[in-house]
Amino acid sequence: MAFLNLFQVLLLLSLAASALSTRPYKNGLTPYFYDFVCPQALPTIKRVVEAAVQKEQRMGASLLRLHFHDCFVNGCDGSILLDPTPTIDSEKRAGPNSNSARGFEVIDQIKAEVDRVCGGPVVSCADILAVTARDSVVALGGPWWKVRLGRRDSTTASRTTANLVIPAPNMDLPALINNFKRQGLKVKDLVALSGAHTIGFAQCRIYRDRIYNDSNIDHAFAKNLRYSCPRTGSDTNLASLDPTPAHFDTLYYNNLLTQKGLLHSDEALSTGEDALELVKRYSYNYEAFWEDFAKSMVRMGNIKPLIGNQGQIRSNCRRVN
Ligand code: HEM
Repeated sequence: MAFLNLFQVLLLLSLAASALSTRPYKNGLTPYFYDFVCPQALPTIKRVVEAAVQKEQRMGASLLRLHFHDCFVNGCDGSILLDPTPTIDSEKRAGPNSNSARGFEVIDQIKAEVDRVCGGPVVSCADILAVTARDSVVALGGPWWKVRLGRRDSTTASRTTANLVIPAPNMDLPALINNFKRQGLKVKDLVALSGAHTIGFAQCRIYRDRIYNDSNIDHAFAKNLRYSCPRTGSDTNLASLDPTPAHFDTLYYNNLLTQKGLLHSDEALSTGEDALELVKRYSYNYEAFWEDFAKSMVRMGNIKPLIGNQGQIRSNCRRVN
């Protein structure tokens, strides 16, 4: 066989490198999934997310939460987006989502625009949620990460499972650790991902019990919150989860150290040795928080994806095709 010339060697090397870089990861997802089928998909999602966050900063928080509530219920499969029908037991009606999860109209808009630029439904609703979560974090000043893609959409939903597996704000640390463990996530993921509460808000009905009955809460902080969250009524009044709800910063962790976590489950992170060490570290080291948050978002995004010919690519995120 004749020797290859330098050009041929370089060509082979670059082909091998590009094959490696587009190769799917272990669970079949790859950041390059739409690079050839629709290179405009990701820039389109980014554009719509930026506009939505510009219009209302809280939307970034709401969109991030949707991906979390999607992934914890039978994996990241877009199940949270399905509206109720006689055969769909919509997760929108589950306790943690009902009158709480928001941003569905933004997802509809993204889906419509992505399908338009791609010339058809090639991008799944589950992937739209994953990219939207990342772009929301970036829009509020947080870290960027490569989102692995190729998830397909479920044809079912489960309100019962949503009620069982989405963690509750009255959980203590062992319950939270257990809850995340069942999803294959570790204490580090729990503490890093809870940092999502550096953005967004919670309703009075959710944190009432904490501000009237918890003992590990700063007195002045609780007193101040009681003005807008009385013992009865005003259930939907909002309080921010940290002092800067539109900035992806480390104040969430700083506040846990001074017993100013809004939710019982937030303050719970400062009650165990391992979790507390991480809370302290993230409180003064935003680079560590950012890096671990991004890694844990990828891990959460890897929960039980549908791939290959499983599930479907929905034409409308609210309904099965
Ligand atoms: C660790 C267990 C967690 C519990 C118990 C929990 C619980 C809650 C609750 C009760 C609310 C307020 C809902 C309302 O008042 O309507 C909330 C808001 C929020 N959660 Fe969590 N959460 C947890 C983890 C996470 C994770 C892992 C993420 C994302 C990675 C996340 C993202 C958010 C965001 C961004 C908001 C604000 C949403 C908005 O303003 O619309 N949470 N969470």
